[in-house]
Amino acid sequence: MQVLSVVPEVFPLVKTGGLADVAGALPAALAPHGIAMTTLVPGYPAVMAALPADAEAHDLGMMFGGEARVLAATARGLAVFVLDAPHLFARPGGPYAGPDGADWGDNALRFAALGAAGNAIARGAIPGFAPAVMHAHDWQGGMAIAYLHYGGPPRAASVFTVHNLAFQGQFDAGILPRLGLPAHAFSVDGIEHWGRVGYLKAGLALADRVTTVSPTYAAEIRTPDGGMGLDGLLRARAGVVRGILNGLDTDVWNPATDRHLAATYDATDPRPRAANKAALQARLGLNRDPRAPLFGVVSRLSWQKGLDLLPAALPALLGAGGQLALLGAGDRPIEDAVNAAAAAHPGRIGTSFAMDEGLAHLIQAGCDALLVPSRFEPCGLTQLSALRYGAVPVAARTGGLADTIIDANEAALAMGQGTGIVFSPTNAEMLEAAILRTISLYRQPRIWKRLQRNAMRGDVSWTRPAAAYAALYREIAG
Ligand code: ADP
Ligand code: GLC
Repeated sequence: MQVLSVVPEVFPLVKTGGLADVAGALPAALAPHGIAMTTLVPGYPAVMAALPADAEAHDLGMMFGGEARVLAATARGLAVFVLDAPHLFARPGGPYAGPDGADWGDNALRFAALGAAGNAIARGAIPGFAPAVMHAHDWQGGMAIAYLHYGGPPRAASVFTVHNLAFQGQFDAGILPRLGLPAHAFSVDGIEHWGRVGYLKAGLALADRVTTVSPTYAAEIRTPDGGMGLDGLLRARAGVVRGILNGLDTDVWNPATDRHLAATYDATDPRPRAANKAALQARLGLNRDPRAPLFGVVSRLSWQKGLDLLPAALPALLGAGGQLALLGAGDRPIEDAVNAAAAAHPGRIGTSFAMDEGLAHLIQAGCDALLVPSRFEPCGLTQLSALRYGAVPVAARTGGLADTIIDANEAALAMGQGTGIVFSPTNAEMLEAAILRTISLYRQPRIWKRLQRNAMRGDVSWTRPAAAYAALYREIAG
């Protein structure tokens, strides 16, 4: 079965977050199920640079003021269709924002173009490729669902996955005439969203099946608290919505072969983690203390991730002898607050405010515990790599964090269970309490080793989720 995946980012070609990891891992995970997935992604400079010289070009004609074509190729192991439309994608900066951090002013057109290309491919624009299912992701993929729905009898069934309800892709209704949709598309059952055009809303309203990335988040988004204005629609579509947990790419994240580490190891013997802890302390200018409980953070710095709460919890963390290694990029005020704390506590707080894949791996292998104090978290991938790397996750009880970590409470410990420390609600006091609970467990080596071993022995791979997606595709195909 052929499946077309429509995404705005895919690892290892272009990545701002977990969506890229998921999109990059799915094709290989689905292959054993007889599913051949090809990924449609915009031709940003980084993606174009990764294309081999023999990419096959297929013209799509004019699209929103410029020539567009699809380049079919295998790039860094991935079967891709690249939307080559230089007037929309050949520019410096990120996939969604310019070098100054402001969203591109023509994002509505850029991702309408991605959707139009997805629809064209789903209808046979590329000879030899006849997908039974088109699977589009997040607001940037929403218009693929809309064009498929309104473009005449669709040849492919459709799945829409929402990775984060906070990003909705809403645009002024003035954009409508340029989208080339029939007038009735601008309705409450279609792409209209409170008088504007909603790309995420279009995907949620019009896809044959809607998925999100954990069962708990699937439940949370049906409530006014978690629904971000879309809970009514999600309740109305409850029959077609389900939560399928993400997996981790266990080839990319494998402590036994990871070339970013100072020492490799596996679940049978995590002792080489000590060498990674030393390397991490050296790399970030932390005191070289093997016995200090070292907390790690690998995250976007944003309200969602709760990292604005961290500075208030730092005195307790430091007071109990802890250290912090933080890798994060995003909101400037959070960066400033962490920086101020780091300046006041040299040797105790090490930071890097960049995107750094190698350091992300070293933190997972070298820290004792990984902090994930999210206010909401559709799935979360860093706690999955933490579990696999033997960094005990300390996380808020929300979304996918609640579904993937077993809290080491008294009852769990009495039964030899527990894979992390889970707290709720997300506020500075509970974060501080969780940190202190973690340090107290860390100081009981027998219990801590058990936690670490439990964490590393769990299955966080794509095996189970891939089977769930394969079953979903089969259910709606043909
Ligand atoms: P989200 O997609 O909401 O940002 P996830 O936990 O699903 O959160 O995925 C985040 C991904 O991005 C993980 O692969 C994580 O390792 C990576 N990541 C986050 N921040 C950085 C950073 N500063 N440098 C390198 N990788 C990062
Ligand atoms: C989003 C969510 C994150 C999830 C990722 C991949 O970025 O914020 O929780 O893990 O998508 O599905």
